[in-house]
Amino acid sequence: MTELARARFTRMQDGTAEEFARIEAGETEYARTLPRRVADAVRALETGGAPGYAVSRLEHSLQSATLAERDGKPVDYVVAALVHDIGDSLAPYSHGSYAAAVLRPFVSEELCWIVSHHPLFQMYYYGPHMGGDKHARDQFRDHPWYEATVEFCEKYDENCFDPDYDWLPLEHFAPLVASVFTREPTFR
Ligand SMILES: [Fe+2]
Ligand SMILES: [Fe+2]
Repeated sequence: MTELARARFTRMQDGTAEEFARIEAGETEYARTLPRRVADAVRALETGGAPGYAVSRLEHSLQSATLAERDGKPVDYVVAALVHDIGDSLAPYSHGSYAAAVLRPFVSEELCWIVSHHPLFQMYYYGPHMGGDKHARDQFRDHPWYEATVEFCEKYDENCFDPDYDWLPLEHFAPLVASVFTREPTFR
């Protein structure tokens, strides 16, 4: 990114049109690097998330995205699978809504809902071992996206801890990440 002249205001209310025009131009340039920052956040999962699993959280995420792609899921879904756990390091108690917030301006509300609720739905597979409620997801049984979230957990999450699976490298998904995160964002 090119060096930007700093604004002089100390309160936003005192900023000039010229200063904000410069800042806006800088924001636009910064937004173009979002795909790289998303990929970096996924890469950081090599050492992120709770330890003790058979694979790193990065390997888990690559396995998830690879399975989704090999099942013929759309690009948005594959990218959502890739990033679904990026909140594990900074938002360990709300990592679903963290990832959904990153995705929300660029993908469907249904996909965001799936990602946001996957931690609660996933509890079906391990809850009783860790003091959680296996059936917590039942509260959403009548929700239109219930089955889709069950499917995500069953096919692309709870089963993605296999160190012998031949997942694709992060570089393979870079063009997909770029195609999603360079779209015109929807503010919601
Ligand atoms: Fe998760
Ligand atoms: Fe996961």
